[in-house]
Amino acid sequence: MTTTLPLQDAAWELGPELVANRRYLHQHPELAFQEENTARFVAEKLRDLGIETQTGVAKTGVVGLLHGRGPGKTVLLRADMDALPIDELNDVSYKSQTPGVMHACGHDAHTTMLLGVARLLSERRDDFTGTVKFVFQPAEEVPPGGAQPMIAAGVLENPHVDAAFGVHTAQDLPAGLIGVVPGALAAAPDGFNARIRGLGGHAAAPHMAVDPVVVAAHCIVALQSLVSREVNPLRQAVITIGVLRAGTVRNIIPEDAYLEATVRTFDEGVRQNLAERIPALIKGIAAAMRAEAEVEYEFGYPALINDVAMTDLVRDAVGDLLGPERVIDHGPGMFGEDMAYFLQRVPGSFFLVGTANAERGLIHRAHHPRFDIDDEGALPVGVAAIAAVALRFLNG
Ligand code: NI
Repeated sequence: MTTTLPLQDAAWELGPELVANRRYLHQHPELAFQEENTARFVAEKLRDLGIETQTGVAKTGVVGLLHGRGPGKTVLLRADMDALPIDELNDVSYKSQTPGVMHACGHDAHTTMLLGVARLLSERRDDFTGTVKFVFQPAEEVPPGGAQPMIAAGVLENPHVDAAFGVHTAQDLPAGLIGVVPGALAAAPDGFNARIRGLGGHAAAPHMAVDPVVVAAHCIVALQSLVSREVNPLRQAVITIGVLRAGTVRNIIPEDAYLEATVRTFDEGVRQNLAERIPALIKGIAAAMRAEAEVEYEFGYPALINDVAMTDLVRDAVGDLLGPERVIDHGPGMFGEDMAYFLQRVPGSFFLVGTANAERGLIHRAHHPRFDIDDEGALPVGVAAIAAVALRFLNG
């Protein structure tokens, strides 16, 4: 409340604290819905700033409320807190201290940046009207995720949220840059498991058996033609069979074959159509070849669709702060992200904070055991950008 530094300078001044916080969180990663220590860390920092803080929202979620100088709109800023079941291979002083668990998707950085934003905005409560709602959610990595239960717990009400923003680290953008994506940014990560039941037998007597391996092979090829022949070529879809399991030895025709697949789409119509056509195709091919199939289709998060006007607001606010040349128009990706649930309900924009540093070898992508980010270069920029977006929305 005493600071008068411009936002960007204040964020740079905060740099060492941001790096320390991020490295602490990096050393103490926790899996989905087990973010007890992380939540405690977050709540303590928020309370130290005099921010009204609620814990235990959707199990380990934390919500902070910061009121400005008078009534106005409410902006929700979201970070995710969970880590991944990966053994870290980086040899750094802040390496994960929990074997088999690693912040390999940058959620330590997201949590850190949002705490930094809380700090800057709490020092500037007289500079805005309305309310900032800081949402630290659990379990982004494990569908059905932590966003949905936080929404069910009422995080979009009291006060009612008018817009939502969040960020993800981006290893295809150098630290210092911000990426914006109008419209679809992340895909609906759906999938299915299929069991094809044939009739086992001797490998030398196929006529006495129903070979589920051949049926599975036909299904796999036909599934790829769903994408090429039944999806509008101007829309996108990907089907990947990640698991194909059948048989034990070369001279036995197995009883059944098993497939597991990922299906990703942006468009809800394409998504629903594939959810209908994939089981129909597998069952139809199986029936035509005297086998039977069961298909369990699983819907993941919806596609993340950024509001175009809110994305323009991000581009303008960050461009005014950092210079327009540091705001990059970024394409969408086919990963999943449960920020989608917030953006289904309120307008907003999810944007990207560049974290790569090729000179320092910090280039490994998310979910890689050598994933690491240029925290010194990226975190202050991300903090300043998020804070500028929140202020622009509340004051604009
Ligand atoms: Ni992530």
